[in-house]
Amino acid sequence: MPHYDVVILGAGAAGMMAAIEAGRRGRSVLLVDHRKYAGEKIRISGGGRCNFTNIHATIDKGRDRFLSANPRFALSALSRYTPDMFIAMVRDHGIQFHEKTLGQLFCDGPATQINSMLLNEMRKAGVTLVLETSVEAVDRGTDGFSLQLSTSSITCESLIVATGGKSIPKMGATGLGYQLASQFGLRLTETRPGLVPLTFETGALEKLKALSGIATDAIVSHGKTAFEEALLFTHRGLSGPAILQISSYWREGDAIAVDLLPHEDAGAKLRAARRATPKLQIQTVLAGFLPRKLAQLLGEELDMTGMIGDFSDKKLAVVEAILKAWTLKPVGSEGYRTAEVTLGGVDTRDLDARTMAARDVPGLYFVGEVVDVTGWLGGYNFQWAWASGWAAGQVA
Ligand code: FDA
Repeated sequence: MPHYDVVILGAGAAGMMAAIEAGRRGRSVLLVDHRKYAGEKIRISGGGRCNFTNIHATIDKGRDRFLSANPRFALSALSRYTPDMFIAMVRDHGIQFHEKTLGQLFCDGPATQINSMLLNEMRKAGVTLVLETSVEAVDRGTDGFSLQLSTSSITCESLIVATGGKSIPKMGATGLGYQLASQFGLRLTETRPGLVPLTFETGALEKLKALSGIATDAIVSHGKTAFEEALLFTHRGLSGPAILQISSYWREGDAIAVDLLPHEDAGAKLRAARRATPKLQIQTVLAGFLPRKLAQLLGEELDMTGMIGDFSDKKLAVVEAILKAWTLKPVGSEGYRTAEVTLGGVDTRDLDARTMAARDVPGLYFVGEVVDVTGWLGGYNFQWAWASGWAAGQVA
């Protein structure tokens, strides 16, 4: 039966990075994936341009930008494998990139360049990649693990689980990582879709649908967490970076608040309009600040009509409130079908933060999205995949 020092399940971002690092140490490495190609999510990521890291995914700024039951867990790996280290590899391979916004680094060309780079490094490190191969059973023996694959039976000393989360099943996501964690006695935290558009009940949706295609800059908040980015109205509800970000914090039954005039004093603007153009209808005034259809919807929500000159201070304060904190109550999210990530996963209490090793199962490691660590939108999730894969690759 073929034996490997290290077998890695899942040829995504984390699995490929772990394979490269273990291979570079001279370990014999087999990387297994059930899909036809490695790095399918890398290929489609960042709108096909792969937002491969974020320069702020460092220990100081990264502290608040990763969600987990234990937000400190990610810091060890993130501090040891930094965005600069990944950027150095990207540069070595001559891949051109740019900062789009907020520290987000994207390829100038297609995302497949990142896959080619990783495949190239794997080849140099002597990694064996087998695709279109599924995992039927995994058992632990006295000196390691035995695996029944769809094509053969193999044994290994170290097993790295890098099978990702549940998001986008049609891209190859399965629950294998969670099943293996449970099989080996590791705890799981509740999983739910993250970085996902939010949906609304039929009545609210009908109104929002009328705005489909409109984008506006906003500050979207949930409790004390707030994101200032674009908000996009779609025919299914709300999307855009600000909504995707807040979706990771939002829980069923909660409301979100939208500041439609970030950094502007809406009250002062309204009072100025009352002085300067008292005969204008309130909706026309709002349309001076916001996309016209949105202004119309807000006017309807407020159930207010008439000339702004007739508005009392008290009435203007109500208009100001909706501009600065429009409260919306999503009923759900679009779910794993479109979620960029899965929140929750393998409980970090059962893993060593330095190595990603299971505390009570020698030789077993979990890396990447399968672990209960989820980053903000904007390259944070890939940086976690690279860093956690790298950490396990140093020791497995
Ligand atoms: P990943 O999901 O990448 O890989 C898991 C691998 O395991 C897959 O190849 C899968 O086929 C394999 N697998 C699963 N089950 C298996 C089984 N039973 N047997 C064998 N193999 C199995 N992040 C970011 O930082 N910047 C970005 O630009 C984007 N953009 C983006 C766009 C879209 C549309 C999505 C869905 C996601 C993103 N992300 C992102 C998130 C990012 O893609 C994600 O966090 C990483 O891919 C996670 O890397 P992993 O290696 O952990 O899992």
